Amino acid sequence: MKTKKIILFASGSGSNVENIANYFKLRKDVTICCVLTNKSDAKVIERCNRLEINALFFNRQAFSKSDFILNMLQSLEPDLIILAGFLWKVPEAITLAFPNKIINIHPALLPKYGGKGMYGMHVHNAVKEHKETETGITIHYVNAHYDEGAIIKQAKATVLPNDSAEDIASKVHQLEYEYFPKVIDEILLKQ
Ligand code: GAR
Repeated sequence: MKTKKIILFASGSGSNVENIANYFKLRKDVTICCVLTNKSDAKVIERCNRLEINALFFNRQAFSKSDFILNMLQSLEPDLIILAGFLWKVPEAITLAFPNKIINIHPALLPKYGGKGMYGMHVHNAVKEHKETETGITIHYVNAHYDEGAIIKQAKATVLPNDSAEDIASKVHQLEYEYFPKVIDEILLKQ
């Protein structure tokens, strides 16, 4: 059986990266090649140190002002590239080079609360401000437009009137931990 290779991108805490790593830990058919981050002090790097996963930092020069990351990704030949809390827009050269091979998780029910500037707590604060009664997660393919690629999976959580933005974030994270690894697994199986 050929081992499937995944590459993860993250910008912050990396709790989804850790959850995905734990899910595939005992699986010989799926390997995490590396975690790439655009923040040199991101907590995800500490997690990778502890989990013994390769982690690399890159800057804008490498990502979007040159083809360095594109070339690196192409040479690694990943089966799937996963944005797990990654906050930069992916350059078109990369989305075009990997059609239907890049997926993202968004902490809301797209098309609501998507687009530029809508990430992390900004999303949950907006959900609270608009008195939404439900929110959730969207796992989708990545194309050249922010949060607009084909939707693969959505899951919902109820928002109660007294929920704080932090409560909402916690409910959304629970959904992410439950569904994101399973969806990745299903996509890899179909390839
Ligand atoms: C997650 O909730 C993810 O959905 C969100 O960032 C968080 C990262 O948490 N992504 C976006 O907002 C992308 N627009 P983590 O670093 O603990 O995995």
